[in-house]
Amino acid sequence: MIEDRRWEGVYSFEDSPFLMEVLTELRDKNTDSIAFRKGLVKLGRYMGYELTKTMEFEKIKVETPLEETKGVIAKDRKNIVIITVLRAAIPLMEGLIKTLEHARVGIISASRGKPPEFEIDVKYVKIPEIKPEDTVIITDPMIATGSTLTAVIQEIKKYNPPKRIVVLGVLAAPEGIEKIKKKFPEVEIFITKIDRELNSKGYILPGLGDAGDRAFGEP
Ligand code: URA
Repeated sequence: MIEDRRWEGVYSFEDSPFLMEVLTELRDKNTDSIAFRKGLVKLGRYMGYELTKTMEFEKIKVETPLEETKGVIAKDRKNIVIITVLRAAIPLMEGLIKTLEHARVGIISASRGKPPEFEIDVKYVKIPEIKPEDTVIITDPMIATGSTLTAVIQEIKKYNPPKRIVVLGVLAAPEGIEKIKKKFPEVEIFITKIDRELNSKGYILPGLGDAGDRAFGEP
């Protein structure tokens, strides 16, 4: 996990050969939807594990069958709300919840309109109660213009402020990250890799195409 020099609280995983190999498979246009979904599940699971490194642990005593020793419990791991942005984030959430198994899960349906406005249409919001000790993890595989994510963060901000708001995604364009960090400097971003740029249609380059279509379109 590497903190990007351009922004505070933005981390990528270019130092992880495992994640870079999974990402390579996701980028490949010949990867079918079954393998694509499996790749997203793998990323969610592994990135969830990496995220626990940033969480608070409490020291406790534990009795083995032989003697007492020191152990830990993950305090933050029990106070997690995962927000799934439909639909491409579903496999990412499936992987993430394998690591963060105590998580409560919320759903937001937010779709992006056509360029140049890329207007965001939020249709369905179902979020569990958010407590001050919670870490809210928004799973959204592609941070492109940052408009969908802005709408999602604004929805979350209608509730009680949590301890942390974290975005977990696969690819981001610098433009999208810039927009989010300007509007919400406190939001942390964990992204497999930050790509080069956006094209005029709002796709990330080199990217992986449309994540929703590739996960749930033609096999
Ligand atoms: N959403 C996607 O699925 N892909 C992109 O490249 C940008 C937004």
